[in-house]
Amino acid sequence: MSQNPVRFGLVGFGAWGQFHAQSIAGNPAAQLTAIVAPSDESRAAAAKAYPQARIFAEHGQMLAEVKLDIIDIVTPSHTHLPIAIAALNAGCHLLLEKPMALRIEDCQAIIKLAQERRLQVAVGHEMRLSSQWSEIKRLIDRGVIGQPQYVLVELLRKPYRQGASGWRYDAGRVGSWVLEEPIHFFDLARWYLEGAGDPVELYAYGNSRDPQRPQLYDNFSAMFRYANGSYAVVSQTLAAFEHHQTVKVSGTKGAIWAGWSGALDRTLEPSYFVKVFDGQKLEDVQLKQHSGEVFELREEIARCIKMVGGEAGPAATGRDGLWSTGLCLVAEESIRQQRPLPVGEMLKF
Ligand SMILES: NC(=O)c1ccc[n+]([C@@H]2O[C@H](COP(=O)([O-])OP(=O)(O)OC[C@H]3O[C@@H](n4cnc5c(N)ncnc54)[C@H](OP(=O)(O)O)[C@@H]3O)[C@@H](O)[C@H]2O)c1
Repeated sequence: MSQNPVRFGLVGFGAWGQFHAQSIAGNPAAQLTAIVAPSDESRAAAAKAYPQARIFAEHGQMLAEVKLDIIDIVTPSHTHLPIAIAALNAGCHLLLEKPMALRIEDCQAIIKLAQERRLQVAVGHEMRLSSQWSEIKRLIDRGVIGQPQYVLVELLRKPYRQGASGWRYDAGRVGSWVLEEPIHFFDLARWYLEGAGDPVELYAYGNSRDPQRPQLYDNFSAMFRYANGSYAVVSQTLAAFEHHQTVKVSGTKGAIWAGWSGALDRTLEPSYFVKVFDGQKLEDVQLKQHSGEVFELREEIARCIKMVGGEAGPAATGRDGLWSTGLCLVAEESIRQQRPLPVGEMLKF
């Protein structure tokens, strides 16, 4: 990696963007060079917190005026596509928050342009960088539970935040609530089962407790299966409290059970565990680092610095982002049609 710090342009300085800013500014190999925030209020907050950064109201102006290595896009989901295209056209790598975009064609357009420009796209599935959720992948890859046949990723939590100007409760701008949090679980389950190839079929259910927004599901469950018979269940309720996530994986030899609990998703004091059974003995796995999205975000920024330096690929690639988005969209369609749907052909890329 070069001695010069990697120059980040951060687009979006909202609830999650501010955590991105902290993680970038806290990494000595990175420089938070510029921040884009449309409202006067957010720009003032960004200027106060990061006086060394240049602050802009609009990404086009930033891309025209500042030399940057990577653009970190943490804006409402319906704005990801145009910002990603502009950043790639300006010759910058991307850290693009999930969902990559709201439509499969848009994810494909981002991947295609990045390939043409020989630029990298990292998608914000930071759970792949978690000490806890990645430990499960390591156990699977080491063959400790045999061949994985069943994965459950489940979350009980409090309702989503509104987001700036209420975008997260507006179907036109959020796209779908499945694209908000279950998208991470689709990615995680697909990662754990990657030895089985690509999923082939998906069936989903969802319901809402608010008749004003029937298409934004408070309760959501989906099952998807592979050609070899293994399958995954992704399930979430938002009609609850706090933040409690479970992962269970069973294989031909043994099983893994992991849990994470916090009063909030971004707590710095969560409780968590991983238990593994190799078919003979049950063990509590000791983790080397805290587990939680704030810790994972720091790892994600560190990984992006290596990615820009050519030392590592993204933890979740554009193709992974396309798949996680695609599984969410097929799930939405499955709920509408009330039947299982094939996924493979739709998502081939
Ligand atoms: N990976 C994860 O775990 C994770 C966690 C949370 C969120 N996310 C994703 O991150 C994104 C942002 O979520 P959030 O919770 O931070 O939302 P948020 O709190 O509503 O913040 C969004 C920010 O984007 C700014 N913005 C809106 N349109 C913009 C544009 N065209 N250009 C530049 N900035 C713009 C808003 O600026 P103003 O304040 O000036 O209006 C706001 O500050 C979403 O895609 C979400 O799905 C991912």
